[in-house]
Amino acid sequence: MAERTRLTAVETVREEGSWLFTIEDRHGDREEVILVPCEDDGAEVEAWVNVCPHEAQRLDPGFGATIREGGIVCPRHGSLFEPCTGDCDNGEAAGTTLRPVETVVELGSVYLVDEDARFRHAGGIGSGDGDDGDDDMPGSTSHIGF
Ligand code: FES
Repeated sequence: MAERTRLTAVETVREEGSWLFTIEDRHGDREEVILVPCEDDGAEVEAWVNVCPHEAQRLDPGFGATIREGGIVCPRHGSLFEPCTGDCDNGEAAGTTLRPVETVVELGSVYLVDEDARFRHAGGIGSGDGDDGDDDMPGSTSHIGF
């Protein structure tokens, strides 16, 4: 059953250029996702897994994705991804597409509605604020090897 979680305001994504958050899939694996403005087809924003398909480079390294000429710039080799489709037709990542995460916009707010994704926290994987109690779970190896 899809959860519906409010992420942020469309206006915030526009102002900041991108908005980073962390999800957890059904296997408990965490991934980072970026929201970016998309003005083309009325979607207002789109959400993409924060990984360049070329070499697993984070598009937003933790302080905001770089948007240039209307495209999301990969910081490693400079390929540009179209924010509304996730497609890349240039540079090292040409022919690849970012992995989408499903969101909807209602009354100026962005909601996560992806069946395979559960919202964990704003920010990157390492920046959990701990407000739901298990973002900073102790490592299972804490007493092993000593
Ligand atoms: S890692 Fe992104 S273009 Fe090479």
